[in-house]
Amino acid sequence: MSFVRTSHHLLHPDSGCTLPEHEVTPQAVYLRRRQLLQGLAGAGALAGAGGLIGAPAWAQGQAAVVKGPGKLPALAAQRTAVAGGVVMDKLTPYDDVTTYNNFYEFGTDKSDPARNAHTLKTRPWMVRIEGEVLKPLTLDIDQLLKLAPMEERIYRLRCVEGWSMVIPWVGYSLASLLKQVQPTSKAKYVEFYTLADAKQMPGLRSSVLDWPYVEGLRMDEAMHPLTLMAFGLYGEVMPKQNGAPMRLVVPWKYGFKSAKSIVRIRLVEREPVSSWTAAIPREYGFYSNVNPKVDHPRWSQATERRIGEGGLFTPRRPTLMFNGYEAQVGQLYAGMDLRKYY
Ligand code: MTE
Repeated sequence: MSFVRTSHHLLHPDSGCTLPEHEVTPQAVYLRRRQLLQGLAGAGALAGAGGLIGAPAWAQGQAAVVKGPGKLPALAAQRTAVAGGVVMDKLTPYDDVTTYNNFYEFGTDKSDPARNAHTLKTRPWMVRIEGEVLKPLTLDIDQLLKLAPMEERIYRLRCVEGWSMVIPWVGYSLASLLKQVQPTSKAKYVEFYTLADAKQMPGLRSSVLDWPYVEGLRMDEAMHPLTLMAFGLYGEVMPKQNGAPMRLVVPWKYGFKSAKSIVRIRLVEREPVSSWTAAIPREYGFYSNVNPKVDHPRWSQATERRIGEGGLFTPRRPTLMFNGYEAQVGQLYAGMDLRKYY
C-alpha cells in the first residue's frame, strides 16, 4: 500500500469510490467497528440529536457488545471526505493509540496517561467560550455532543518528537462551535485552556510546564474545515488518556497544538502564548506547522517513526510538508517565511 493516497482514493459514500475498508484497516479493528456501528444502528442511536446524515449499508444489523469506554451517542455512522481530510494510511492499532500518549497532566512517560487518567472526571463537564464574541456561551458536554453532526475523520498525527500515528477521530469542525458565539472583527486568534485540577491530575505536581496547558490558533486556522473538535476515536467515546471529553485535532501542526480536555476557549485580539512556547520559545513556536525542512534545534524533522509499525529499527518514513495537508492549508501561509514563523 502506498504511503499517501491521492484524493480519488478517499472513501465517500457519494463519490462512487469503492475502496473496500478492509484494504486499509486491520481486520480486527474493521470487525470491531462494524460491530460498534451495528450496535448503534440496532439501538436506534444513529437518529440521535446530532443529526443523522445517513447510515451506510454496513451499519445495518444486530446489536453488539462494545469494548472500551463506551459508544459515542451522537455518532453518525458516516465516513466523510471533508476537504480531503481523510487519509487512507493504515490505521494505528487502537491499543497503541490509547497506551502511547503525551498528556503531561498525568505524567511524562508515554505509558503514564493510560495508567493514571482514570482519575479524570469527565462528567459534568462545562466549556466556556468567551472573549471577542457577541454571544459568550457556557455549554455542557451533552450540549456540545449534539451541537453538530459527528463525522469520522482519519488524520495523521505527527508529534514534534518525531513519531506519528493514523487515528480515526470522531467529532465536528471547530468552526461549527465558534460560529455559535459570533466572533467580532477583533477576534484574530483563539486560545484553548485545558483542565488543571491537581486533585484529578497527578502530573500537575511537576513544574515541567506552567499549568493550565494553553494552546492557540490564528482565526483562519481555527475556522479551517480540517480543524476538528474531537469527542471520540475508533467510534468510541474519547478515552481519558487521549483528552476526554473533548480535545482539539489540528492535523497539519505538531501534535502539541492539539490541546486535550478543553474547558475554556477565548477569542482574542493578540497572538496567544502557548505553554510550550512559554517554556522553551526557541524550540516551540506559535505556528508549529509540520515541516520536514525546518528542523527542531535538537533533532531533524525530515523523517518520522510510525507507531505500531515495528520497533526502533523499522525504517523511518519521510515527513510530509504540512503533514500531507499542503493542498488544503498551504494557502494560509502564502508569503510567510516558515523558518521565522516556526
Ligand atoms: N494536551 C494537554 N492538555 N496536555 C499535554 O501534555 N500533549 C500534546 C497534545 N495535547 C498534551 C496535550 C502532545 S505533545 C501530543 S503529541 C498530543 O497531545 C498527543 O495526543 P495523543 O496522546 O492522543 O496521541
